Amino acid sequence: MFITFEGIEGSGKSTQITRISEFLKSRGYDCFVTREPGNTAVGKKIRAILLDPENKIMDFRTELLLYMADRAQHISEKIKPALSQGRLVLCDRYFDATVAYQGFARGLDTSLIYILHEIVLDDLKPDLTVLFDLPPEIGLSRAWKQIQNGTRDKGETRFEKETLIFHEKVRAGYLELARREPERFRIIDASKNEDQVTDDIIVYLRKYRSGVLK
Ligand code: TMP
Repeated sequence: MFITFEGIEGSGKSTQITRISEFLKSRGYDCFVTREPGNTAVGKKIRAILLDPENKIMDFRTELLLYMADRAQHISEKIKPALSQGRLVLCDRYFDATVAYQGFARGLDTSLIYILHEIVLDDLKPDLTVLFDLPPEIGLSRAWKQIQNGTRDKGETRFEKETLIFHEKVRAGYLELARREPERFRIIDASKNEDQVTDDIIVYLRKYRSGVLK
């Protein structure tokens, strides 16, 4: 089973993935927690290029192809082996992030992104996608607080430095993707407190196709 977690900056995904994986592990699930970009040796180098705020001039197509390159490596090196061992894969961002950020927000042709995914990545789709939704003003102010108190890396702020309008487009893009695939997506109100968000996700997992959870 392959579950992805998506949302704008500061939506609390990382904290919740840790909480959910701990919960699932306590129930006996063999979870593999991963993220994009950057969870392979090659991917770490790609991540550094993509998120470095010094890289102010980056063609949007370069950006797109770097995310795809990271994902190709991630799928073959990590995700597919974990799935074939029967593990439950929890992934912090995946393909929908490319459609939302590079497609809806950057304005690249989304049909091109889908074609690339089909060709390069064997069209590996998540079984379930949890979308953390909240207004970008709240998400960005949380993210900048974390940058200032050192819990978020200063050297990875290329996207946090984008305009509010950019982040509004990302959010709208994600909501549109969720509207198109209601079977796969579950939208979580990420403006609630951390415990409530965790509870909401567990409720969704229990309901999903007669329950991910035993
Ligand atoms: P994060 O690891 O802190 O979530 O940062 C990853 C950043 O990369 C985040 O700003 C979203 C962006 N991103 C894309 O623009 N496209 C993608 O395909 C992915 C996976 C992430």
